[in-house]
Amino acid sequence: MIAPLGGTLVDRVAPADRADALRERAAELPAMRLNARETSDLALIATGAMSPLEGFMGRDAYESVLDHMRLPGGIPWALPVTLCVRDAHVGRIAPPFLAALVAPDGERIGIMTVEDVYEVDRDAEARRALGTDDPAHPGVKYLAANPALRAGGTVWMFERPVHRPFEAYDLTPAQTRALFEQRGWNTVVAFQTRNPIHRAHEYLVKCALESVDGALIHPAMGETKPDDIPAEVRMECYLALLENYFSPDHVALSIFPYAMRYAGPREAVHHALLRRNYGCTHFIVGRDHAGVGDYYGTYDAQRIFDRFDPDEIGITPVRFEHAFYCRRVGGMATPKTTRSTPEQRIFLSGTRVREMLARGEALPPEFTRPEVAEILQRHYAPDA
Ligand code: ADX
Repeated sequence: MIAPLGGTLVDRVAPADRADALRERAAELPAMRLNARETSDLALIATGAMSPLEGFMGRDAYESVLDHMRLPGGIPWALPVTLCVRDAHVGRIAPPFLAALVAPDGERIGIMTVEDVYEVDRDAEARRALGTDDPAHPGVKYLAANPALRAGGTVWMFERPVHRPFEAYDLTPAQTRALFEQRGWNTVVAFQTRNPIHRAHEYLVKCALESVDGALIHPAMGETKPDDIPAEVRMECYLALLENYFSPDHVALSIFPYAMRYAGPREAVHHALLRRNYGCTHFIVGRDHAGVGDYYGTYDAQRIFDRFDPDEIGITPVRFEHAFYCRRVGGMATPKTTRSTPEQRIFLSGTRVREMLARGEALPPEFTRPEVAEILQRHYAPDA
């Protein structure tokens, strides 16, 4: 089994016999309110998906990641994982101190030893992490809408959140590792997605699966952009694929409780490292991975892996060119595998798909499996 980043799977979910004492303690502590993304990050840290992080980053780690794509000890890490200070009274306390972590619904869900409170330059963070400070970029919008004051320190979460109604498909890194072992999969390719699985996505998974033991469909189910397709609808689409097309002996589905950053290349590395912690050995990186608009070059998210020694990343990127249905070969292909002309290639952009669905039009079977098209059409029917 592939080792987690840093060697050990971090576990910062309080043991059952300590959780009550920590909860009582938290009731007395100054409160720090988390937004949806930070709540997702807390759960990812607590369950070890962000190993070796044991908490939110302090300034040293934050700067080191932005400057060098490494944690201070040298381990690769591509994106900051920080907690904003949005409660003025907390910003005035001198570290170190303990604080209660409060979810958006008001529940106290964890405790943090705040070791560092620091102010960042949000425009500079945007340029370094996202490669742009254009206020139209969703990641830049997020930064502008959240405080520049950050807190770093180790955390405990009182219990692991379970994502209803997906709990049967909500596995922690320890659980996916156990699943792979039980299935006897030595090599596992992870597929990150924030979309329904269209034919192109399915093709990437199938091709990658030809040379490994198993595939983990691992859709990001935390906060996405308002115009991305909602998690419940996507889940229906994933299940339709599993029930009708993928081999149950070689494909598993589990949600990735993660909020998208739309950071393109750096996010591809981030996605890959987290999937290594889930026990995956390979990671699919296709066209414009984690991209948005035209901020990133089509294959920048593949090239960024060349900046690391493959051994230190540990998980192997499986690169794909732009896939489409090709009328000439009568199947899915990429520019590498067909000599067709552009007119013989069927590919629809996300925007075009949304327009078609909004008009009540069916998506063509060359683009989307009929079972998936039907779910999307039902959800987006003009009178829905
Ligand atoms: S992402 O934000 O999660 O990257 P999406 O769900 O669209 O968005 O993509 C999931 C994965 O499939 C990414 O690795 C992406 O690069 C890849 N991908 C999506 N569509 C295609 C395509 N037509 N050809 C090749 N790769 C693709």
